[in-house]
Amino acid sequence: MSTDRRKFLKHLGTSVLLTSASLTSLAAKEENEVRILRDQKRVSPNDKIRIATIGMGIMGFNDTNAALSVPGVEMVAACDLYKGRLERAKEVYGKDLFTTMDHRAILERKDIDAVIVATSDNWHSQISIDAMRKGKAVYSEKPMVHKISQGLEEIRVQKETKAVFQVGSQRVSSIAYRKAKEMYESGVIGKINSIEASFNRQSALGAWQYTIPTDGDIQNVDWARYQANADVKHDFDPNRFFRWRNYREYGTGVAGDLFVHLLSGIHFITGSKGPKSIYSIGDLDYWKDGRNVPDVMSAVIHYGETKEHPAFQVTLRVNFISGEGDHGTTRIVGSEGVIDLGGEGEAFTIHQNKMPQAPGIGGWDSLFTYTESEQKKLMDDYNKRWTKAQQETPQFAPITYRAPDGYNASKDHFANFMDAIRTGKPVVEDAVFGFRAAAPALACNDSYFQNKVINWDAENMKIIG
Ligand SMILES: NC(=O)c1ccc[n+]([C@@H]2O[C@H](COP(=O)([O-])OP(=O)(O)OC[C@H]3O[C@@H](n4cnc5c(N)ncnc54)[C@H](O)[C@@H]3O)[C@@H](O)[C@H]2O)c1
Repeated sequence: MSTDRRKFLKHLGTSVLLTSASLTSLAAKEENEVRILRDQKRVSPNDKIRIATIGMGIMGFNDTNAALSVPGVEMVAACDLYKGRLERAKEVYGKDLFTTMDHRAILERKDIDAVIVATSDNWHSQISIDAMRKGKAVYSEKPMVHKISQGLEEIRVQKETKAVFQVGSQRVSSIAYRKAKEMYESGVIGKINSIEASFNRQSALGAWQYTIPTDGDIQNVDWARYQANADVKHDFDPNRFFRWRNYREYGTGVAGDLFVHLLSGIHFITGSKGPKSIYSIGDLDYWKDGRNVPDVMSAVIHYGETKEHPAFQVTLRVNFISGEGDHGTTRIVGSEGVIDLGGEGEAFTIHQNKMPQAPGIGGWDSLFTYTESEQKKLMDDYNKRWTKAQQETPQFAPITYRAPDGYNASKDHFANFMDAIRTGKPVVEDAVFGFRAAAPALACNDSYFQNKVINWDAENMKIIG
């Protein structure tokens, strides 16, 4: 065994916890060995991928760092509409970094292979389309589009340009989600019938009141460019720029921002193309800071029977003022068990429950309301009909899986993206998948604001009616 591999296995230690023989540790080790080999891969100078990030905010930095964790990736340029973030990009990635406030200046450069689009939601589609047309590979943050009407055009441009295009819902590359999908497909929870998924938060930062810099004013922000594609223009307001998520003009509310993560994970595990009907309610309950989107929102979504899956129901909830504290969940419920993925989806537990073959008698039952002799007669008859074994409820040990300590799904998502650029193999989350997750999430907003059920044709990706 090579020293590197020994070092790696030592590092892996006990971080993969598997408490059932049905999910062997071998499979998890294999995954990790693939990852370590990839991290050790030597990349020839010709194989270098030169990237630029457009939208150098929280996720711009996080995505860039995840991209740079893939061997042979080099950061050469950054674009943002606030000067301070361009200066910060130079502090972090070096003074030679090319910076600009105009994304087109990035796209004109021939030495850039791929761009990360990590702007606010209102610019994802336009910049991605511009970049694909200029021959760049594109990693677009979620949600893929700001409006449902943008999706088919973006898919068309991807098909026409054949650009490598991946949407940034990293749980689609998560090792835990892949394991959960395998378990789901093995039939361990029986026939799926419902899914409950949520994000609960209880903090100002969790509710998107991010810090605004002291020089975040009109001199340092290109406000005209920021709202160049908006239907309604507003005067400059630092809240609208630095806390854009709170405004529908630039963001997509909790549905576009967070339901889309839940739906991406659900579609990945179930193989679904999407739901057929969507209904949603919302309230602005606590964070009344001028935002025009709800801070508590629930949706009921119906997935019809298809060749990929039986019919099932999904309930989604985001609560930004939740006494549960910061806590999220995705629970996939079948007739014989539940897959319970944690909030960030880096671990899951499977609980199996099966009914005994016998229907049961006594306890919370009408039996005790009958005469002694009638009860005896019924019990004797029941015990003759059903053996002891048939009367017993089968018991199952829970199955637990946890990704290795320090595991980061974003790094895997970027590794998949870079592999697609280098080898031409398909991306893990293409435009069709990205739009099929984004559209029903955005339809939750439409349902709430228009107070109606939205019917969706998932196959053709169109609103019905
Ligand atoms: N995958 C995930 O887990 C995850 C997590 C957080 C955010 N996101 C997504 O990442 C995106 C960015 O979120 P954030 O929290 O980093 O926001 P942010 O406000 O911190 O950063 C967004 C940046 O984009 C810049 N920008 C906006 N329009 C631009 C344009 N036309 N040209 C150049 N720059 C432009 C802004 O100046 C700002 O600095 C969002 O779409 C969000 O949904 C994804």
